[in-house]
Amino acid sequence: MLKINSSIRSLVSRSITTRQLVYEKYGAPQKVIQMKTVELPDKLEPEQVLLEWHASPINPADINQIQGMYGVRPKMPAIAGLEGAARVLKTGSAVKSVKPGDQVISSYEVAENWADYGIFNQKDIIHVDNDLPIEHSAFLKVNPPSAYVMLTDFAKLKKGDWIVQNCGNSAIGKQIIQVARILGFKTFNIIRNRENLGELVKEMKDLGANEVVTEDDLYDKNKKMKLPRVKLALNGVGGKSSLYLANALDQEGCMVTYGGMSRQPTQAPTAPLIFKNISLRGFWLMTWIREQKDDRARQKVYSDLAGWMKSGEIQPTAMVKRSLEDYKDALSEAQNKFDKKQLFFLKK
Ligand SMILES: NC(=O)c1ccc[n+]([C@@H]2O[C@H](COP(=O)([O-])OP(=O)(O)OC[C@H]3O[C@@H](n4cnc5c(N)ncnc54)[C@H](OP(=O)(O)O)[C@@H]3O)[C@@H](O)[C@H]2O)c1
Repeated sequence: MLKINSSIRSLVSRSITTRQLVYEKYGAPQKVIQMKTVELPDKLEPEQVLLEWHASPINPADINQIQGMYGVRPKMPAIAGLEGAARVLKTGSAVKSVKPGDQVISSYEVAENWADYGIFNQKDIIHVDNDLPIEHSAFLKVNPPSAYVMLTDFAKLKKGDWIVQNCGNSAIGKQIIQVARILGFKTFNIIRNRENLGELVKEMKDLGANEVVTEDDLYDKNKKMKLPRVKLALNGVGGKSSLYLANALDQEGCMVTYGGMSRQPTQAPTAPLIFKNISLRGFWLMTWIREQKDDRARQKVYSDLAGWMKSGEIQPTAMVKRSLEDYKDALSEAQNKFDKKQLFFLKK
C-alpha cells in the first residue's frame, strides 16, 4: 500500500495553498488562462476529499473547452484541466469510496485538474488501480477507453478483421493501434506527411500498426493506393480524409467520427451510402459513460486497460513534462505540435 510521507502528513493538518490554472471567459487559451494561488478551506465537508494532483496533460478537449467550443461549458471562473491523476490526502467523515493514499482521476463531467491540490466531492472522483504508474494513470481517463469502446461497440469484428483510421499517429490513434492489436484486429493507418516519416512509421509499427500510409500517397491517383474493405472506420480528422475513410467501408460498414482535427466538415461518398447502406455515427466518451445503466461496463473497460498497461501491452503516451508555471509555452505547443503530449507534472 502507498505510504504517505511525513511532509504530506504535516500538510494535511494545516490549510493548503494551491496554484490553479483558471479562466474567467472563453477565448484563446494563452490569453485567457491565468495562474492563481488560493488557500483551500482547512476543514472538509463530510462528503469531500482533498486531492494532490500528480500529473495532468493538455488535450485537444481542454483547448476546445477553454475556447468555449466543447460539449460541456463550465461555470466561470473555472479551473481548467479535464484529465489527470491524483492521490487522496484526506477524506471527510462520510467518505467510503476512497482512503488516503488511493490513486484517483476526476469523473467525466468534472475538470479542475490543473492545480497542485483540490477539494472534490467523493461522487466526482473515480478510484483507479493504486499501482498503475503515473505515466499511464495521467492519460487513463479519455483516450484509452475511447479507443476500446469504439473498437468494440460499433461493429462486430472478428479476429483478423481490418479497421481503417486517420489521425493514426495521435495519442488516441496509438491507443487504437494497441487495443486493436490486443483484440486481434488489424489497423490500416493514415497520417500526414512529415520529415521524420520513417521514424514515425517504425514507432507505429512497433506498437502493432499493420499498415501506415500518408494522406499524400492516398490522394495521389498515380499511386493507386487501395484501402482494405472494412466494417469499421475511425475518423478523428474530418474533411477530405473522412471521404477516403468512408470509401473503404464494406456493405453495412460504419464510420465513427470522434474528432475534427482539420476543422473541416466530415464528408461521405454518396454511392456507398445508397448501395452499401453504410452508416455514419458519432462518438463522445461522455455520452457513452452517461448511457451506461450500471457502472460495470465502465469498470471492465478501465480494469482491462490498466491490466494491459501494467503488463506492458500498452505503452505509455509520449509526453513532455512541464511545470505549471510553463503553462503559456505548454498551451502554445499543445496547439501546434502533436507528437508528444504536454504534461503538467506536479508530483513533489
Ligand atoms: N469523442 C471523444 O470522446 C474523444 C475522445 C478522445 C479524443 N477525442 C478527439 O480525438 C482527437 C485527437 O486527440 P488526441 O488526444 O489523440 O490528440 P493529439 O495526440 O494531440 O494528436 C492530434 C492529432 O491531430 C492531427 N492534426 C492536427 N491538426 C490537424 C489538421 N489540421 N488536419 C489533420 N490532422 C491534424 C495531428 O497530426 P500531425 O501529427 O500530422 O500534426 C495528430 O495526429 C481530438 O479531436 C480529440 O478531441 C475525442
